[in-house]
Amino acid sequence: MKRLYFPLLAGLLTAGTVLFGGCGPEKQSAQDTAAEALPDISISRSPYGRTQAGEAVDMYTLRNRQGMEIDVITYGGIITRWTAPDRDGRYANITLGFDSLVQYERSSPYFGALIGRYGNRIAGGSFALDGKTYTLETNNGPNHLHGGERGFDKVVWTARIQEEGMHPYLVLTYTSPDGEGGYPGTLSTTVTYTLTPDNALEVVYTATTDQKTVVNLTQHAYFNLSGDFSQPILDHVLSLAADQYLPVDAGLIPTGEWAPVAGTPFDFRQPKAIGQDIEAQDTQLSLGRGYDHCWVLGQADSLRQVASLTHPGSGRTLAIFTDEPGIQFYSGNFLDGSLPRPDGGTYGHRSGLCLETQHFPDSPNQPSFPSVELAPGETYSSRTTFQFSAQ
Ligand code: BGC
Repeated sequence: MKRLYFPLLAGLLTAGTVLFGGCGPEKQSAQDTAAEALPDISISRSPYGRTQAGEAVDMYTLRNRQGMEIDVITYGGIITRWTAPDRDGRYANITLGFDSLVQYERSSPYFGALIGRYGNRIAGGSFALDGKTYTLETNNGPNHLHGGERGFDKVVWTARIQEEGMHPYLVLTYTSPDGEGGYPGTLSTTVTYTLTPDNALEVVYTATTDQKTVVNLTQHAYFNLSGDFSQPILDHVLSLAADQYLPVDAGLIPTGEWAPVAGTPFDFRQPKAIGQDIEAQDTQLSLGRGYDHCWVLGQADSLRQVASLTHPGSGRTLAIFTDEPGIQFYSGNFLDGSLPRPDGGTYGHRSGLCLETQHFPDSPNQPSFPSVELAPGETYSSRTTFQFSAQ
């Protein structure tokens, strides 16, 4: 598979640096310098636990020389911890998670997980393909959400470390049997997590099927760039490269309208604090209980920057690049203080936010939306990069 690094970032790679990857201690010669003793990218594996069904779950830790660390577990491909530097170079965990597999299995609002087969909602848990109606599990009121009762966030993925040149990356695969969750076709999915030397994580999704089906994969990390999960994300400054968004009904299903953001609380074309308009009198904000909508991104199919998020207090900044046509900005409205934080306390209202790159919600039922169909012989392909920096 073709690996991708942004041209603007490629220059930051130090020519001639010896990079090491894989699990286990790296072998070094005695004359190696201290600088060379640290690999640019390393990936290590450790046992994480067993599911209630007895399946073994591993944790892979991706590290770069700068100090970014990302823990990924094979259950759900979940990113359980992700450190990023503030303006003084101090690394802190910036993604919401739990400290045990039991808690992920018991109740998780998709913290850090891979989402499939269909990220977001499908109205009434049903859609038609070539004249045949398919019935999916309804796990969100009358609707289907994030792949159903046992979506890709709740299965154990097969993992391997791929050594490619100087950059190892993590490869996760899962084969979803025909009919799983109600979806047609055997879907073979591969997701790669590639940490770069300059604090970006590239996520690449590919999938093939043996019957016509629908697919919409995404990553459900909740970000709080302050690193202090006792605080809400309302002070984070967000920009979204979108002139339009998709208004929803009471079940958070798009009405089909593509509405201009101009003059509404949904206008993030210029950087704006999330808290600035979130309590405005607005029907769409009431329906979403805050922001929980899909923004329509221009120039679909080409990798371009679509979002920027900054925490002014720490300077931590996240830029998101994707080739997807939409991004769901969810301001953590359903977090209600009932889930435990690893550092003590609980996750309060809006203590994290999601920026899920994806096709539009309910696309299988909305002919005016970009197609999510995948046929045998085709390869689903999608990529998103999360680039961190500090201001
Ligand atoms: C959705 C929210 C939902 C959340 C689940 C988000 O992707 O937009 O409506 O509550 O996932 O945690």
